[in-house]
Amino acid sequence: GDHPMEHSNYLVYHGLLLPRAVHSQDSLQYAENFQVQDEDIFVVTYPKSGTTWMQEIIPLILSGGDLTPVHTIPNWDRVPWLEETRTSLVIDKMRCPRVFVTHLPYHLMPRSFFSSKAKVIYVTRNPKDVAVSSFYFHKMASFLDDPGLFDKFLNKFLSGQGKRKKSGLKVTMIMVVTFIPIIISQQMSFVCFFFFLCLVLFGKWTDHVKCWRNLDLGDRILYITYEEMLQDLKGALVRFSRFLNRELTLEALEKVAEHCSFNNMKNNTMSNYSLVPEDIMDSSKSPFLRRGVSGDWKNHFSPEQEAKFSAVIKEEVKGTSFKFPWDE
Ligand code: A3P
Repeated sequence: GDHPMEHSNYLVYHGLLLPRAVHSQDSLQYAENFQVQDEDIFVVTYPKSGTTWMQEIIPLILSGGDLTPVHTIPNWDRVPWLEETRTSLVIDKMRCPRVFVTHLPYHLMPRSFFSSKAKVIYVTRNPKDVAVSSFYFHKMASFLDDPGLFDKFLNKFLSGQGKRKKSGLKVTMIMVVTFIPIIISQQMSFVCFFFFLCLVLFGKWTDHVKCWRNLDLGDRILYITYEEMLQDLKGALVRFSRFLNRELTLEALEKVAEHCSFNNMKNNTMSNYSLVPEDIMDSSKSPFLRRGVSGDWKNHFSPEQEAKFSAVIKEEVKGTSFKFPWDE
């Protein structure tokens, strides 16, 4: 039919906006009921924080530096996204320990995760660079909406809800009254359509990083930042390998670090998304492995945008024990 939902790039899952290209109600249900094993490893990120990098690093640590997995298996099957449709297709081929990436917030992890001993590596990246990276990703991926003007995109990124939040009580009341007949007629998805026009992929950055902090996971979780990895990749590899009880020989360490450099990964067809058809990801608009640096925000933010962005983020992480390397 001509239902508005059918024309949308997105679906909404527990208030989170997800691209339909790779998620479905079935894949989300699958994630919810997924049977986590104690040996499983989850790399958790907010989108554009270094997920693809980790899909290269962790298999190489587990293989002791043998490059076969990263030369033969595309990143999305090598370390699949738990919540995406491909996981159920490749799960039987995965070897133990299985490694997954996920952008899910803590409370939406599979039920069996909480009682398991599965390990988590949480990667955080400077939100200013995340916003810039995300802006370009929206431009090159045809399954995401055009990001529009950078300033608008930034405001949306910060509020997590686009224009909606500012609209105030009056507008909210009008909306509610308008939608009552629709709600009554069970057309809930129609309401969702209006609502998710205003959402940001996987919700607000601060919500994501906060929900993965101060948890009861103890030594099951390792926190690292994208910036720490850039500054000292070998140091990061040592931390990962100790955390996973897979210490690398010096030789293997050198080899993995070398292979996981930005330029080498950019040339790896199994990791640079060049296997994806151009009408889905257009690298002439912006390559997936775009710049791979920290501080690119300085080339995009005006002083006013920077001041506002910092103020909002600071306010929202107030009271938590956050200390980010980019603040020093
Ligand atoms: P930029 O757009 O700033 O270049 P994700 O994989 O979570 O979507 O994140 C993508 C970001 O990680 C991109 O950032 C990409 O270039 C960067 N990235 C991927 N591999 C990298 C590597 N080996 N070294 C540095 N950055 C890398």
